[in-house]
Amino acid sequence: MRVLVTITAALALSASLGLSQEAATKIKKVPTTYTNPTSGVEMYRNYCAACHGLDGKGSGPAAAALKKAPADLTGLAKKNGGKFPTLEVQQYIKGESITDAHGSRDMPMWGDLFRSIGAGNPEMVVTLRVKNLTEYLAGMQVK
Ligand code: HEC
Repeated sequence: MRVLVTITAALALSASLGLSQEAATKIKKVPTTYTNPTSGVEMYRNYCAACHGLDGKGSGPAAAALKKAPADLTGLAKKNGGKFPTLEVQQYIKGESITDAHGSRDMPMWGDLFRSIGAGNPEMVVTLRVKNLTEYLAGMQVK
């Protein structure tokens, strides 16, 4: 039963990221499917919900396949004394925090992935995507 759940989770994740089944094991390095950079909700559903869940609470279909449980994204403000930590969240999503530098975290480095699908000025597109995703997360905070 345990095995079945894990396989289902991996499939759901690879489907949501537009990957082949084999590629799911290399999830941190693969390119991402295109979404509208101005739509926080569209990006969240395509890139984040597989692990963090549609409601952001950390129980997406792929969660069981990970070593570490995905964070509850609805409690970020609460954990930070009631203030949503915008800058930290943006850096975390991009993968620029010092603690992520070793690339050992379970969560993909979205900065690199967004750069790989950014046309025109990739840096601007990364900034735009991360900003809109962060605003979407800010809107799902519990009091
Ligand atoms: C492959 C699964 C996976 C995907 C996809 C994923 N995350 Fe995560 N995320 C995690 C895990 C696991 C953690 C817990 C920390 C770790 O990786 O060690 C985490 C942590 C976080 C944190 C830090 C929370 C805190 O407590 O500081 C934020 C913010 C976050 N994710 C946002 C996102 C966003 C936004 C997306 C989509 C662009 C996303 N995640 C996609 C697995 C994932």
